[in-house]
Amino acid sequence: MEVLIVDTPEAAAAFAAEAVLDGLRKHAGENPVLGLATGSSPLGLYAELAAAAQRGEADFSDTVGFALDEYVGLEDTHEQSYRQTLIREVCDVIGLPVENLNVPNGHGESVEQIAAQATAYDEAIKAAGGVDVQILGIGANGHLGFNEPASSLRSRTRIKRLAAQTREDNARFFDGLDRVPTHCVTQGLGTVQDARRLVLIALGSNKAEAIAAAIEGPLSASCPGSVLQLHPDAVVVLDEAAAAGLKNRGYYDDAAAGLQFGI
Ligand code: GLP
Repeated sequence: MEVLIVDTPEAAAAFAAEAVLDGLRKHAGENPVLGLATGSSPLGLYAELAAAAQRGEADFSDTVGFALDEYVGLEDTHEQSYRQTLIREVCDVIGLPVENLNVPNGHGESVEQIAAQATAYDEAIKAAGGVDVQILGIGANGHLGFNEPASSLRSRTRIKRLAAQTREDNARFFDGLDRVPTHCVTQGLGTVQDARRLVLIALGSNKAEAIAAAIEGPLSASCPGSVLQLHPDAVVVLDEAAAAGLKNRGYYDDAAAGLQFGI
C-alpha cells in the first residue's frame, strides 16, 4: 500500500488524480474501465481529471464507468440517486459518456429480483474486462461503497441495509432523515478488491479514526476499509487532518519520497 500524506485537500486531489491516470496507463487496454465513487472526498480528484482532459493528457470518451453503489427505491431521475449524482459530478465533468455509465439497479418487485440484478452487475463488470482503477472514499465508520462494518471481506455486489450513522451522514442531501433510503445495492468488498488498482482519497478530521483503522488496524470486517491491506496495488491519499491518527507516519513519508508520480 502506498500512503501519501499532503498538506491540503487540493494537493491530495492532484496526487490522487495522478495515481488514477498512472493506474490507467499501467492497467487499462483500449477501453479503460474506471470504478466511480460518490461523496465529497473525490470531487477535487474529478476536477483534476477534467483539467488533465482539457490539457489533452487524458481522454475519457472511451472509458466505461462502474459505480460502487446505489440506493434502493430512489427513482433513477431522483437528484440524489447515485446515477444522477455521478452524471452531474463525474460524467459531465470529465467527459465520460453517460451511456458508458453503469450503476447498480436498486429497483425491483422483490428482494430476490434486486439480488439477481446485483449478481448481474458483478457479471457485467467482469464482462467489461474488470475495473482497471477503482476510485474510493471512506465512510466515517470505515465503510467502502456501502459495505458497512461486518460486511464479508469477500462479499460480491448485493443488497445491504444502511448503517444508522451512514443514513445520518447522508441526511443532509435529503429533506430529513426519514427520506434517506434504508437499503442500497453495493459492490462487495470482494468485487472492489478485483480492481487492478485502488485509489482512496480521504480528507478531514472526521475520517482520521477510520483511516487509522483501515491502514494500521487489524484486517477486519469491523473496518471494511482494512481490505486495502490485501490489495497489491492500493494508493491512499490523505490530507494532514485525515492522517492525524496514523502512528507509522515517518515510514509513509520516506516511502512516498521514492514514488515518481511526476508532480
Ligand atoms: C457514501 C458513499 C461512499 C463514500 C462515503 C463518504 O456513503 N457510498 O462511497 O465514500 O459516502 O462520503 P464523503 O466523501 O462525502 O465523506
